[in-house]
Amino acid sequence: MTEGKLAGKVAIVTGAGNGLGAHCATVLAEHGARVAVVDIRLDAAQEVAAAIEARGGTAMAVETDVSAEDDIRRMVAAVVDQWGRIDVLHNNAAALDLKTRYADRDVCNVEIEAWDRSMDVNARGAMLCCKHAIPVMLRNGGGSVIHSSSGFGVMGDATLTSYACSKAALLALSRMVAAQYGKQGVRSNALVIGFVLNEHAQKEVPDEIKQILLAQHLTPELGSPRQIADVVAFLASDESAFVTGHTMMVDGGFTSHAPSLVPIRELFARKGDNKW
Ligand SMILES: NC(=O)c1ccc[n+]([C@@H]2O[C@H](COP(=O)([O-])OP(=O)(O)OC[C@H]3O[C@@H](n4cnc5c(N)ncnc54)[C@H](O)[C@@H]3O)[C@@H](O)[C@H]2O)c1
Repeated sequence: MTEGKLAGKVAIVTGAGNGLGAHCATVLAEHGARVAVVDIRLDAAQEVAAAIEARGGTAMAVETDVSAEDDIRRMVAAVVDQWGRIDVLHNNAAALDLKTRYADRDVCNVEIEAWDRSMDVNARGAMLCCKHAIPVMLRNGGGSVIHSSSGFGVMGDATLTSYACSKAALLALSRMVAAQYGKQGVRSNALVIGFVLNEHAQKEVPDEIKQILLAQHLTPELGSPRQIADVVAFLASDESAFVTGHTMMVDGGFTSHAPSLVPIRELFARKGDNKW
């Protein structure tokens, strides 16, 4: 596991104690990166770091609330103390706990705490991680920043107003980083992620909702954490050296088709042909 396209690189993955972040940290380590598993929940981060080490990888767990600048200063210092450099920053952490999600509704009914928490963690946290990790990248000649955004960041929807606005902010942040530090070797790209069946979604999302979402993806299945992690590993590696300032749809085509596609497909199925 020490050989691979990320050998010699040091990566920070925020929100890596669970879900997609845990998978991304694991896959980056499989490709040879030394990975800082950063999460507000130390026990979860330690579990993921231990699992990476048990498989022959190199990882450290760092307890960090990404909305707190002092925490981020400490986290970046701990990574530099341990490994001396930072090559990859994956801004993955998001406030997706049930309390925040339930309070994050349509604009007229959004609870301001949900707005503040979403902005603090998802947008401000990502900016603060950039603010403190990029100077280290600049010292070692560059790096790659990857931001996990969402379909909510580019399309209107019925609820999750604050989440959507925070995810749209990441798209701008990504381009700002690419524009400001590209000449010094720092690349920055954002992922618009579709519906991925992580552990929580497998268990908690009702089948009816999964079927509605699946119909709107152009792929036979909804996404898997591994499919996201493979794209993150590509963007983290020198294979993507000419890719920067890019917003990449990693969403099974969720955002790339006409809204009429699904009802038209059903109509054609009922008619038995696709003649207008
Ligand atoms: N799962 C999907 O279908 C999907 C779709 C689109 C985008 N995304 C994005 O992918 C990323 C990961 O999503 P997920 O489904 O794995 O979420 P998740 O809720 O399973 O994991 C989020 C992680 O972030 C951590 N976290 C929360 N607040 C934090 C804070 N203040 N500081 C540090 N860590 C904190 C949590 O403890 C958790 O480990 C998110 O940015 C999300 O917006 C996911």
